[in-house]
Amino acid sequence: MTYAKASASSAVSISASEEQRIVFPPKRVQERAQIRDYGHYRELYELSINYPTVFWALQSRLVDWMKPFHKVLGGGLENGDHSWYEGGRLNASYNCADRHAATWRRDKAAIIWQGEDENDTRTLTYYELYIQVCRFANVLKKHGVRRGDRVTIYLPLIPEAAVAMLACARIGAVHNVVFGGFSAESLGERIRDSGSKLLITADAGKRRGELIPLKEYADRALESCPEVESCIVVRHTGAPAGLIGGRDSWWHEEMRQADIFSVCLPEEMDSCDPLFILYTSGSTGKPKGVVHSTGGYLVYAALTTRYVFDIRDDDIFWCTADIGWITGHSYVLYGPLLLGGTTLMFEGLPNYPRPDRFWQVAEKFRVSIFYTAPTVIRSLMRESEDWVYRHDLGSLRILGSVGEPINPDVWMWYYRVVGRERCAVVDTYWQTETGGIIVAPLPGAIPAKPGSAALPFFGIKPAVVDRDGRECEPGGAGQLVIEEPWPGLMSGVFGEPGRFKQNYLTAYPGKYFTGDGAAADEDGYLWLLGRVDDVLNVSGHRLSTAEIESAIVNHPSVAEAAVVGFPHEIKGEAVCAYVIVRSGVKADQELKDQIRQRVRGIIGPIACPDRIHIVRELPKTRSGKIMRRVLRKISSGEYENFGDLAALSDPGLISELIEEAAGA
Ligand code: WTA
Repeated sequence: MTYAKASASSAVSISASEEQRIVFPPKRVQERAQIRDYGHYRELYELSINYPTVFWALQSRLVDWMKPFHKVLGGGLENGDHSWYEGGRLNASYNCADRHAATWRRDKAAIIWQGEDENDTRTLTYYELYIQVCRFANVLKKHGVRRGDRVTIYLPLIPEAAVAMLACARIGAVHNVVFGGFSAESLGERIRDSGSKLLITADAGKRRGELIPLKEYADRALESCPEVESCIVVRHTGAPAGLIGGRDSWWHEEMRQADIFSVCLPEEMDSCDPLFILYTSGSTGKPKGVVHSTGGYLVYAALTTRYVFDIRDDDIFWCTADIGWITGHSYVLYGPLLLGGTTLMFEGLPNYPRPDRFWQVAEKFRVSIFYTAPTVIRSLMRESEDWVYRHDLGSLRILGSVGEPINPDVWMWYYRVVGRERCAVVDTYWQTETGGIIVAPLPGAIPAKPGSAALPFFGIKPAVVDRDGRECEPGGAGQLVIEEPWPGLMSGVFGEPGRFKQNYLTAYPGKYFTGDGAAADEDGYLWLLGRVDDVLNVSGHRLSTAEIESAIVNHPSVAEAAVVGFPHEIKGEAVCAYVIVRSGVKADQELKDQIRQRVRGIIGPIACPDRIHIVRELPKTRSGKIMRRVLRKISSGEYENFGDLAALSDPGLISELIEEAAGA
């Protein structure tokens, strides 16, 4: 049975089945929103799809061009030779700093930084940012870095990371940021693959009051990187850094040299010149260097920030991602700064020293837009709600989620407890490859259905197709493809010319294949079902791990769950669940029975887990993604050869998981 409910603001009717909910944009969000009714969204969306060149020509004005482009879009998805704004020239750092520093925003905070220690805070105004970027760009030049060269950045989440990235962009060098949680080995691999000649790092990072010896890791990585001529080190913690003569120097000493000026003309970059490389793991063991080019990426980052987060001049925008991930690139740095916004960078963790650290930081800086990951929300949900309620979070207006499907229960908790039912929750779906958000509800215009990332962003033409490329009926699960190019789409894989086409454009020729499963409902809302390789086939029935997890998490005693398949004699594949319970809950057979009941009740007996392991923690990458590969192996009884575990945040966990699995 379904019911339809008319949107307050337009004639559209959005429906939901009985077990689904619809949450309309809260009035206070809608009233101030830049796009405040569904009809307006539709109109713009249709323009963007029917007349993409007109639409993207108009949006190109979000950035300042040094020379106008002569063609909006060249090439396409047939060959992966799409190029945006051909002939146009611009500079990313000019657009993020100079053009604001020359207006009333000169003394506005561009970056507010909060360190892990409560007393460590810094603010960079647009003018200060501009000066620092110019000076550091001159330092890079002094070290021989030229247009087109690659520079690897391996830093904690500190303002210098932003300054370094923009300084690279200023002189036309390509930045390659490596997340500070990666090992020496992964760092070395990324430096070599990108052919970087300079590395920027820090003495150490901080995590739960302990030091992470970044410089030590960098030294180890550089042993196998003979091409790197210089290493510039930020003094962040005061830990010994062991500078190596002839190669290493301090950031602060470089910056205060008499020959380093505060003026550095921005390089005129071609729109299609690469802006950065960012490595991401694919289905193979070797990470791919995803390349984004300048013009298209910047326009797309700016436009998505503007409409998905509805950012305005009085907002404080806090994206909790590390700058080493694409979310950090597009929504800590480029998106907010392109629009002259204030971006908050927080070095610490959500639950250190106490489970209310995020809420305390949000209250302290009067954050109005907050963007985090479901895994963070779930871990904070495990704690008492009092941790949230003891803070005044009245400044919040938009709550974003990214990185994995957000279960409806988690969505509702976010909406109810953090947002007090007066903030819009936007579940944003996208990938490193897509440059920016491609599916999300616009906060003032699109009613949300918890668990769905809602509707495509402007210029995105999604389709859910079966294995043969035929479009699925509404409600049918298939694979998500995007049928037309958009400006945020990656331009290629670094150093491997044919790989982009081969990896993304051949499964469904002429279409971009996301690798994600999805279903579109009657209203066109997209329900992401997890990576296609996370889809289970139990007795010939397709089941999404995310769906089963969602059902398990629905049990009030469960905090978090990860589901994988394991080989089963009769069913082909069977379901195995790893479950974390809320603090204070007794983990016994009765609970496991209840969980099974719950899954049976919500999805059906077919999805009922054959095995349930109650564990202390799940194996996750440092960015919070569950490493299902590891769980799959353990569930299949393979206790070795886990492949690359460099990204695992808690390496000691593996033996615990094996013990639990073997004992069951
Ligand atoms: C998943 C992160 C469901 C998806 C920006 C995608 C999501 C992968 C969502 C990309 C979401 C990200 N709902 N799934 N809102 N957001 N994903 O490259 O499987 O680190 O393919 O980019 O994360 O991860 P990546």
